[in-house]
Amino acid sequence: MPLEIAQAITASRLTELRALLAPLLQTGLPLTLEIGSGHGHYLTAYAEAHPAKFCIGIDLIGDRLDRSARKSNRAALTNIAWLHAEVSLFLEALPAETRLAEVFLLFSDPWPKRRHWKNRVVQPEFLTLLASRAEAGARFCFRTDHAEYFDYAQKIALAHADWQVAEEPWPFELATVFQERAENGHQSFIARRSP
Ligand SMILES: C[S@@+](CC[C@H](N)C(=O)[O-])C[C@H]1O[C@@H](n2cnc3c(N)ncnc32)[C@H](O)[C@@H]1O
Repeated sequence: MPLEIAQAITASRLTELRALLAPLLQTGLPLTLEIGSGHGHYLTAYAEAHPAKFCIGIDLIGDRLDRSARKSNRAALTNIAWLHAEVSLFLEALPAETRLAEVFLLFSDPWPKRRHWKNRVVQPEFLTLLASRAEAGARFCFRTDHAEYFDYAQKIALAHADWQVAEEPWPFELATVFQERAENGHQSFIARRSP
């Protein structure tokens, strides 16, 4: 695709996302983001347990978002929204003054082959962008069943000046669809946005 067309599509998607986000950010509640929210089990339960937080789930797969919305509608939740968005574009679309209080990335695609590692969500540039949209002390909660991706992501977080890997308990336990499928357990870390 020619560069100008790709740029025009990105610009138009950014405009759309900004319009979708504007009404969601009116609540003044602390913001929780789940990246790759999948079938929505985790964030729906989290929003139900934390009515004083506003939760946004984003994913690339529309069908999963539709299922997620059905779950949160059944539970009559008003503190949750689902957006069809790629994470970097979503972060770029957030208004400059908006800061995330916490971010979950659960069972993110591990892209096991070395030549595909560049497709993993956790990269130094991603943590830099996330830090620019996170309040001081915000937590980034990462969990995976892929041991090598765990080491890769934790190493990037440990080396990143904007984040401090913290020794603290996992904030909320509820098995996601991919957690239930994981046969060999999982590993987690939490990193806090440096002040
Ligand atoms: C392996 S699934 C895990 C889903 C869910 N978190 C779970 O644990 O059941 C990864 C999800 O992340 C989404 N995803 C992958 N890359 C993404 C990106 N760059 N931005 C937003 N979502 C993404 C995929 O569409 C997919 O639904």
